[in-house]
Amino acid sequence: MGFLDHDDHEKVRSTSGHGETFQSIVERRLSRRSFLKSAVAASAIVFAAPVVGRTIAQTDDELPADASGLGFETIAGQPKENDSLLVPPSYVAVPFLRWGDPLTPDAPEFDADNQTAAAQAQQFGYNCDFVGFLPLPLGTDSSDSGLLVVNHEYTNPDIMFDGYVEGAPTQAQVDVELAAHGVSVVQIGLANDSWTYDRTGTANRRYTATSPMTASGPAAGSDWFKTSADETGLNILGTLNNCAAGKTPWGTVVTAEENFHQYFANNGLLEDDDPIKAMHDRYGVPEEASDRRWENFYDRFDVSKEPNEPFRFGWAVEIDPYDPDFVPVKRTAIGRYRHEAQTFVVADSGQVAVYSGDDARFEYVYKFVTSGIYNPDYRTANLGLLDEGILYVARFNDDGTGDWLPLLHGEGPLTEENGFASQADVLVKTRQAGDLLGATKMDRPEDIEPNPVNKKVYIALTNNTNRGVDDNPGVDAANPRPENANGHIIELTETDDNHAATTFAWEIFLLCGDPEDEDTFFAGFPKENVSAIANPDNITFDNKGNLWISTDGQPRTLEINDGLFAVPVSGPERGLLRQFFSSVAGSEVCGPEFTPDDTSLFVAIQHPGEGGTFAEPVSTWPDGEVPPRPSIVAIRAANGGRVGEEGDFQPTQRVYLPMINR
Ligand code: FEO
Ligand code: CA
Ligand code: CA
Repeated sequence: MGFLDHDDHEKVRSTSGHGETFQSIVERRLSRRSFLKSAVAASAIVFAAPVVGRTIAQTDDELPADASGLGFETIAGQPKENDSLLVPPSYVAVPFLRWGDPLTPDAPEFDADNQTAAAQAQQFGYNCDFVGFLPLPLGTDSSDSGLLVVNHEYTNPDIMFDGYVEGAPTQAQVDVELAAHGVSVVQIGLANDSWTYDRTGTANRRYTATSPMTASGPAAGSDWFKTSADETGLNILGTLNNCAAGKTPWGTVVTAEENFHQYFANNGLLEDDDPIKAMHDRYGVPEEASDRRWENFYDRFDVSKEPNEPFRFGWAVEIDPYDPDFVPVKRTAIGRYRHEAQTFVVADSGQVAVYSGDDARFEYVYKFVTSGIYNPDYRTANLGLLDEGILYVARFNDDGTGDWLPLLHGEGPLTEENGFASQADVLVKTRQAGDLLGATKMDRPEDIEPNPVNKKVYIALTNNTNRGVDDNPGVDAANPRPENANGHIIELTETDDNHAATTFAWEIFLLCGDPEDEDTFFAGFPKENVSAIANPDNITFDNKGNLWISTDGQPRTLEINDGLFAVPVSGPERGLLRQFFSSVAGSEVCGPEFTPDDTSLFVAIQHPGEGGTFAEPVSTWPDGEVPPRPSIVAIRAANGGRVGEEGDFQPTQRVYLPMINR
């Protein structure tokens, strides 16, 4: 079904539609730092350069201090029909929390043939995405007890329900779908090397597409937020399409509303001169019926009846996992777009910087910087921090510099004459404000996250097969490949490593794809040594600052399942990207999350069996039964050591090109 906004993985051509070769584009940006001074710089065929590197130290004792510590044996991606998990030798991967698992003592057991909304609202939701581990007790760095906060991005009703008819759901099915969306908070614990969830955990709870929520910040309660059911503009029902998320320094989770537009219908029924129609068009609200047809049963999903309801979605929503009574708050100061996620870091000034991306083709990268200062001593003092500050949108200049452009009412073009009469207007129409400021149109920004070790910020650009096609924007230095099917990763360095800065430098870190393809780039590392990767989506870091990347689609030509990859970002192994985990048929891998001591790694297996249906399944994971069940997996080394470190990957295998100027 067409519920995903994921692009076809079309084959990349090496020449853009704008007369400039791919190599000239990339060399313009990469050569300066990565190639010019290297042995292969003089070669015009930098992407097919032979290995001219050397082997590094022969034993771990001789490894340089900045070695990654990644000793796991590289695995290969499994063929697409394979329906089991694969990890390197000496690792164990165990699903321990599945769609439908009861989260309270009174909740019914999962029964695929007797699904009800009331049951689902007390059970683990569908399509797990973000995974956040929050230690228990609060304020500790426990790695064996915590709250798991998990997003449930969307539903696959044709896999969930026996007899689902596309375009004609029953109300009972729709109600289960509403309850299967949202967020779960679940207490988990480690005993005898195994993670289990505690059905009696007092903090366990579900947030769904109908849970009471509120809003704060400049757009909250504005006229845009008012509906026939809510004249205050502050009483909102639910959260939708929660994709990735971030943990705040004060231990809350801010969950992202991504492709919210797809739940609404009938924008085409609004009058052509109704300004709301154009506002919804810019965010992709369907002209006619939605695919899901929720509007058949609930007027709020029909914009011809409730034109403002979509303005109450597309936000970053703060949840306090430790407080079951906390009412989730949509923090409007961070902006409204298809939030992939937002991630948090405390700047040297004490202000909190919030990085986020709008995951759609030719959309933008954002940063919000709080006005107030983080208070590490008084937790609740931080709960208003996200309501005041400056939202910026990124411009990536071709020379490797960049600017954070403020989205402030009254500044520059953001005036009443241009349709922005207040800061609420700027925030509700964040995309339009970014257009006027000349922000850089990116190749689908997914996760963006600051590395706590080297302070650089990594941006996963998942793909953009429309780049350079027809009337769409052509390549630029930050989005250098036409018809970008495989995605890339940008490394952003704030000026003076100051996360509150308004300028930055940037470079391409990875150009993803099959390493055999000439248009890939692995931070200069020889392609013989790296794994194929495409569509980078969620990212995280281990305690050594190594970047871990999960994928949403592998190179189309390879016909392999999605996976998880690790790549050092500094030292002699910078760019040595290797596959650690391979998933099951039809799934994508989401939410990689380490415990504080790196001895456990959680991943979410989203949409196992996508491409099949209940009647014609392509996956029966994890239990060998229909329907397959999206689940959380815990990965541990058999000896309980740091995940990624254990293994016999030999230093002599680490052949690399000397990376000068690093
Ligand atoms: Fe929900 Fe952009 O992935
Ligand atoms: Ca994602
Ligand atoms: Ca995705």
